[in-house]
Amino acid sequence: MKKFKIVVKTFAGLEPVLAAELNALGADAISIERRAVSFTGDQSMLYKANFLLRTALKVLKPIAQFKVNQKDDLYNQAKKIEWSEYLTLGKSFSIDSTVQSELFVNSMYASLKVKDAIADHFREKFGKRPSVNTEDPDIRIHIYLMGDYCELSLDSSGESLHKRGYRVGQGEAPVNEVLAAGMILLTGWQGNVDFFDPMCGSGTLLIEAAMIARGIPAGIYRKSFGFEKWMDFDEQLFSEIYNADYEKESTVKILGSDISVQSCAIACANIKSAGLSKMIEVETKDFLEMNPPFGSGIIVTNPPYGERLITKSIAGLYKSVGDVLKQRFSGYTAWVISSSEEGFKSIGLKPSRKIELFNGALPCSFRSFELFRGTHKQTVILKKGNSNFNT
Ligand SMILES: C[S@@+](CC[C@H](N)C(=O)[O-])C[C@H]1O[C@@H](n2cnc3c(N)ncnc32)[C@H](O)[C@@H]1O
Repeated sequence: MKKFKIVVKTFAGLEPVLAAELNALGADAISIERRAVSFTGDQSMLYKANFLLRTALKVLKPIAQFKVNQKDDLYNQAKKIEWSEYLTLGKSFSIDSTVQSELFVNSMYASLKVKDAIADHFREKFGKRPSVNTEDPDIRIHIYLMGDYCELSLDSSGESLHKRGYRVGQGEAPVNEVLAAGMILLTGWQGNVDFFDPMCGSGTLLIEAAMIARGIPAGIYRKSFGFEKWMDFDEQLFSEIYNADYEKESTVKILGSDISVQSCAIACANIKSAGLSKMIEVETKDFLEMNPPFGSGIIVTNPPYGERLITKSIAGLYKSVGDVLKQRFSGYTAWVISSSEEGFKSIGLKPSRKIELFNGALPCSFRSFELFRGTHKQTVILKKGNSNFNT
């Protein structure tokens, strides 16, 4: 099968995990970029990237690269592309863009120029043009314009891949599914020790953890992918990829709890929708009153930040969380994500690792705390050396 360049977009900080996922898929020429990883692959890799990658937001197939030295270059170059290879008059399209250019301060303007180029290309050939549909287009086109370098791509994912398809409800500040999976993979956890999220909200970390432990493909719950509407869609190839055997047995315990009855109900609904009720337990409990549910294990959690959840005293909450971890959770490794530096200061524990991440637009820090029990030898430590990637 013919190989081509593929670009996978992700969140800042998750590039190394995404590269490790691509490596495990057997991708060639993997190159880490800013908020993206590119590689070389064929049609089958394009489908696998969409279906299997946990830390991918979008999988793009570049179709043209050119320089934009003056404004008209974008329209003129885009018009030259043989658009009828990708679009027909009966199909709708949309354009989105990532633009950092002195010529196009407004990214909408760049999208408009490419839209005009496509419309004029078709009008000159057929006297008609395909329609634009921003809500549910058949074909999505992506413009990447950085300085004078422009790359136009087809978006093979359709809706962002963080929309896994299992979420039926969301709490006040759910963590993005791609970020949740990335956080878990960054810890090096693969289902080897028991997993606990004591502030589980809508259950995102629990579900992503269970999917990792069981090898459930990230895209299994999705109804569709963008490439299914492409003219070269190979239904049999995708069906083989979709139906291959990825799952594995897991006896690891995954537990979530939250102080809010409503959050627990939402988490249970999401877990049920993902078909994971047998694997994940949820309890309504205040973490500050909890005893460890297992002898040892990993905690990965996303406490209230303050920015998105109104909490009276972030410092007070984080101090209590730190005290509980220290006093009761020895033998555990706790990973906490937060955008609150004040919160981290109040935890009163020294982090063994700090990873800078983003939850949407919000800069966050993801920190690990090793809660020693007796000698270091007895402690369960998930360290950099245990993981299959480099950060
Ligand atoms: C930022 S949200 C977690 C979002 C979650 N990761 C998700 O994806 O939906 C923080 C959660 O902490 C819970 N919480 C706050 N204080 C708590 C406490 N003392 N014990 C347990 N949960 C608490 C809140 O109810 C809220 O659901």
